[in-house]
Amino acid sequence: MQIYLDHNSSTALDPRARDAMLPFLGEHFGNPSTHHWAATESRRALGEARERIASLLGAKPAEIIFTSGGSESNNYAIKGLLLGLHLAGSGPLHVITTIVEHASVLAPLAQAERFGVRVTKLPVDRWGRISAEDLRSAITPDTSLVSVMHANNEVGTLQPLGAISAICREHGVPLHTDAAQSVSKLPTRVDELGVDMLTLAGHKLYGPKGIGVLYVREGLQLEPLVDGAGHESGRRAGTENVAYAVGLGVACDIAAADMAADDDGPDSLRGVRDHFYDLLHEAFGDGVVLNGHPTERLPNTLNVSFVDRIGAEVVAGLDGVAASTGAACHDGSRKLSRVLSAMKVDERVGLGAIRFSTGRHTSRPEVEEVVRQLRATVS
Ligand SMILES: Cc1ncc(COP(=O)(O)O)c(C=O)c1O
Repeated sequence: MQIYLDHNSSTALDPRARDAMLPFLGEHFGNPSTHHWAATESRRALGEARERIASLLGAKPAEIIFTSGGSESNNYAIKGLLLGLHLAGSGPLHVITTIVEHASVLAPLAQAERFGVRVTKLPVDRWGRISAEDLRSAITPDTSLVSVMHANNEVGTLQPLGAISAICREHGVPLHTDAAQSVSKLPTRVDELGVDMLTLAGHKLYGPKGIGVLYVREGLQLEPLVDGAGHESGRRAGTENVAYAVGLGVACDIAAADMAADDDGPDSLRGVRDHFYDLLHEAFGDGVVLNGHPTERLPNTLNVSFVDRIGAEVVAGLDGVAASTGAACHDGSRKLSRVLSAMKVDERVGLGAIRFSTGRHTSRPEVEEVVRQLRATVS
């Protein structure tokens, strides 16, 4: 029996997305930038995919830039904006971010620091949230960008984007959010979130791997990272990956329909996840601790610690269950994950962390089986 509870890591391509992609890996091979018969269908499909993605985000199609995934989108948002400002002759540059961002935000910022950009990393509370007041105090006249993730990949905690956006607007600072984990699980309409740039990763929402999107609000100037011909309106050179864009477009349509139909009932994403936690609590009482915000959290994410245990060992004792340990990026390590450390989780608790992330098809019997196995393993 195989039970997949690692949807924050990646999701299976939806068969409807795959079916829509197949003709673009075959007969519809034309380059969408050309204007003859062989390109008609690829050009139309690329435009339709852009519209579908824009519709999910409440954006204009022209504000959608295709990239190779979430990592490239984050790199582009940060480096593209800073490089643009630098080339425009701006003075000292300052960026504010959080200590719990994905590596694809923190690494380009570390690189920017080597070029003289000042970076402030805001701390988080024990649930993994930053304080809007800390952000307000950190803003200076040099602040050129704020980058705060919508939802954390390890613990699922949501950042208070409404308050963050209000402060950024007040100071005229553009706001980027890495929404790789939240798109499809929660509404992510750019005007409601109040963001100027947003990162989306195809493989987190049942689309293909190796494709993503950076939403860039009309009027915001970024310097391209990939220079060449004028693809993506001169913002990212390279012939578009039409098949993957088509798959992502369909995945976005499915996500929108799914969220609209979600009744938050017992079999919904949240319903199954909460059932899972209730069963764990029943089985282990205080021996199991929730990591992440109790309510302001992705509806599919359950990061729990088995106190005085090692998460990787507990997972190894399960049969056919795919889940990540607290140190999600360095499995098997006995070091507290960067995110749990930032949340100042006690070592006795943090080392026993396991991230279970449920998905569209996760059922109540599946999580019941995992709890049955955990009872046998942990006791
Ligand atoms: C929050 C977050 N941002 C960015 C990424 C990177 O996305 P990709 O794998 O498409 O480069 C991930 C994926 O692990 C993620 O969880």
